[in-house]
Amino acid sequence: MSITVVVPTFNEGPNVAELVRRLDEALEGTPGASVLFVDDSRDDTPSVIERVAAEQAASGGVPVRMIHREVADGGLSGAVVEGLRAVGTEWAVVMDGDLQHPPELATVLATRGREAGLDVVVASRYIGGGDAGGLDGHWRRAVSTVSALLARSMFPLRLRNVTDPLTGFFAVRLGALDLDALRPRGFKILLEILARGKRALAVGEEPFVFGERHGGSSKATLRMGLRYLEQLASLRFGRMSRFAIIGGMGAVWNVLILWALTVLGMHYLGAAVIAAAVTISVNFALQERFVFRDLLGQGRFGFWSRLAHSVTFNGTEAVVRTAVLGLIVELSGFWAVPVQGALLAVAFLLRFVFHSQWVYRPRRTAPPRLGDALPTPPGHGVLGAASTDERVQ
Ligand code: GDD
Ligand code: MN
Repeated sequence: MSITVVVPTFNEGPNVAELVRRLDEALEGTPGASVLFVDDSRDDTPSVIERVAAEQAASGGVPVRMIHREVADGGLSGAVVEGLRAVGTEWAVVMDGDLQHPPELATVLATRGREAGLDVVVASRYIGGGDAGGLDGHWRRAVSTVSALLARSMFPLRLRNVTDPLTGFFAVRLGALDLDALRPRGFKILLEILARGKRALAVGEEPFVFGERHGGSSKATLRMGLRYLEQLASLRFGRMSRFAIIGGMGAVWNVLILWALTVLGMHYLGAAVIAAAVTISVNFALQERFVFRDLLGQGRFGFWSRLAHSVTFNGTEAVVRTAVLGLIVELSGFWAVPVQGALLAVAFLLRFVFHSQWVYRPRRTAPPRLGDALPTPPGHGVLGAASTDERVQ
């Protein structure tokens, strides 16, 4: 099997030679393998790549090619897609150019994908043996963990076997991709590939340790974080949008019921309890029907158990949130309304993640083994992520 290693670079001059040296070793014994840099650099990186490419050609090492772009359309993700378009082999491995991704794993990912009959193999920092060590600072680690959890909550089926949907290190079978359907921007190309494709891809994972940068500096910025939100918006926030609509309608009903009952002469506290009980039950029914319906048979809980978890969580959340509201307002003297607004926003995310990743979370599927008859039974195989519900156009 042959592979192309696609490496997006932006001002990575100090890392090119070392990366190619290690890739050259790793790809020895893989006939037809090559390395393709997709470069948007504004410094001398292109000439460094050209020099290394010439050295490789002279020494008969693994061939190195470069696409240099004058306009960095779509940034990192755009570069990856442009690279994938130029790949002639069946499999490609996408990896960073700063040696935070161990080159030795490139062939392992592609081989595993091919042997297991997968479409994508993700190098994950978050499964056994993996580690996000090289992410500098608690803050970036926390942002990374939370972003991954949110993405998984929005696309629980498509990402059922993916713990690290935001990694930039993965192997992909070109035949499984519809590159024209992608709308690459920012840093998160893997999420785009997994969430927007016509069909759910068969995905496996390998753990890896995210290392330290070899040289140069990181290009991840706050702006990239905002781009991530933009990307989630363009993926229409997956399931979260429907969850939000139902939650929002619930708040309206709550108030309407409270109003109607008090107009009918009921005490407002009794009316509030009834309004809450009705809203919680109706919301649960709607969420089963319109948000998580395709997951009902795939999780670990039956109806009553889901109801119990949902009601317990929402009830506890309301009590805790109110206590926190009281605490903040008493201690800081802030106006209660904006504090409540912020708390409600946080609570909404917590509720969503809890339901998506606990109450309705689909079980992981075993990767198909070579020779297994495909497709697997609906709802149970990797390909059996039968619903088209999560498809984003
Ligand atoms: N062609 C191109 N164009 N390459 C780019 C661009 C761009 O606009 N921006 C960044 N790159 C390249 C860098 O040169 C590097 O090879 C790779 O993309 C990753 O950039 P880093 O600056 O090293 O990002 P990081 O280490 O902070 O981010 C890593 O973690 C993210 C998740 O936490 C990367 O692995 C990302 O891919 C990953 O999404
Ligand atoms: Mn990096």
